[in-house]
Amino acid sequence: MTQNIVQQKISMVFKSAIDKKSIFKNKRVLDISYIPDNILHRDSELYEISKILSVSLKNERPSNVFVYGPTGTGKTLVVDYVCNELLSVARENKLSVHYVYVNAKLKRIADTEYRLVSHIANELGEHIPFTGLPTDVVYSRFLNKVESLNGVLIIVIDEIDYLVNKIGDRFLYTLTRINQDLYNTKVSIIGISNNLNFTEYLDARVRSSLSEEEVVFSPYNAIQLRDILEDRSKKAFYEGVVENSVINKCAAIAAQENGDARKALDLLRVSAEIAERNNEYKVKEYHVDLAQKKIDYDRFIEVVKTLAQHQKLTLFAVLDLLLSKDVGFKVHTGDVYDKYVSLCNRIKKTPITQRRISDIINELDILGIINAKIKNLGRYGRTREVSLANSKDVYEKIYNLLKNDLYL
Ligand SMILES: Nc1ncnc2c1ncn2[C@@H]1O[C@H](COP(=O)(O)OP(=O)(O)O)[C@@H](O)[C@H]1O
Ligand SMILES: [Mg+2]
Repeated sequence: MTQNIVQQKISMVFKSAIDKKSIFKNKRVLDISYIPDNILHRDSELYEISKILSVSLKNERPSNVFVYGPTGTGKTLVVDYVCNELLSVARENKLSVHYVYVNAKLKRIADTEYRLVSHIANELGEHIPFTGLPTDVVYSRFLNKVESLNGVLIIVIDEIDYLVNKIGDRFLYTLTRINQDLYNTKVSIIGISNNLNFTEYLDARVRSSLSEEEVVFSPYNAIQLRDILEDRSKKAFYEGVVENSVINKCAAIAAQENGDARKALDLLRVSAEIAERNNEYKVKEYHVDLAQKKIDYDRFIEVVKTLAQHQKLTLFAVLDLLLSKDVGFKVHTGDVYDKYVSLCNRIKKTPITQRRISDIINELDILGIINAKIKNLGRYGRTREVSLANSKDVYEKIYNLLKNDLYL
């Protein structure tokens, strides 16, 4: 039987898909959610937290711990690791030690105090519906469940600053005082935060009880990041696929940007994805440059998408004024405002005041979306000189995105 040309081509496509070499031995190893076998360069933090929690094996209440440090410094990884180790030792010795992990960034878990408490109760096996009961009923069912554990309960609240921003610090007050209402169980809280300043906003009593102990995670340096990446890439890639210089480069870039291991891993993963997509079987330094651009670009677009409507209108006004001009061209707040008002008229939206638009321009500057330098005009007051902060092709994409989004 003779195949026609199209059929021959199709069978070639499938055959070459099978023959195509993959550069990944196990891509999952580079996922953010992957838990590595080795935790490198965190011995003292692992040790410190283990020591604090170890008293639970003697049925004593561990001190509450406040863990903080910038993103990607291994806080979640280390705390989760220590708690799981503790649980397995407790199990071996038939001791009643329990651990609940809450990620406060996950919306449905922690957008109200009710949801938070019912989530923790559910994790402990006490099924409380996610809505509908009076809060005091939820609390008392939660309390009864905790009491029935008859041992030590460790509650980890990750990204705790988000939670406090959203629902205030009353829940923390309640949780850190819960031991007063308990006889058989002791509760200890571990709060994890990327934001160092957030405790300033806490009630003084809450702050001092949350920070009975503090463990600080510092940024990784380039050498530490290189070790972390090397360890991971041995499992993720076939041998010889990733050059040492690539790992060094990812480590160096991430070390410069806040010593973030997540960023380093992202860079390596995206570099390899770009190489693979281009049918290249070696990851090279220029792939890292491309990856860096892609990651920055994606983040930029993401930030723009989450802006409020008047922020978007203001940004659109700026782009409308600047995109047709040479790079480095600047406009003043007044020009932006006039353009903004005309855009509002076009879509029949009531404009807000120039003062507010000036604030928005400042916000866009803080977000790194545009540059806005204050300029003194002597007795004519002050204005901002607005210019572009990124390359034009990025702004052109944003311009079109906003145009659709705002029906302009
Ligand atoms: N010391 C380390 N060894 C191995 N991998 C690490 C280490 N520190 C962080 N990572 C990895 O980097 C990513 C970010 O770590 P994470 O614990 O989530 O940071 P944080 O909670 O401080 O933001 C995770 O994928 C984690 O597995
Ligand atoms: Mg974390």
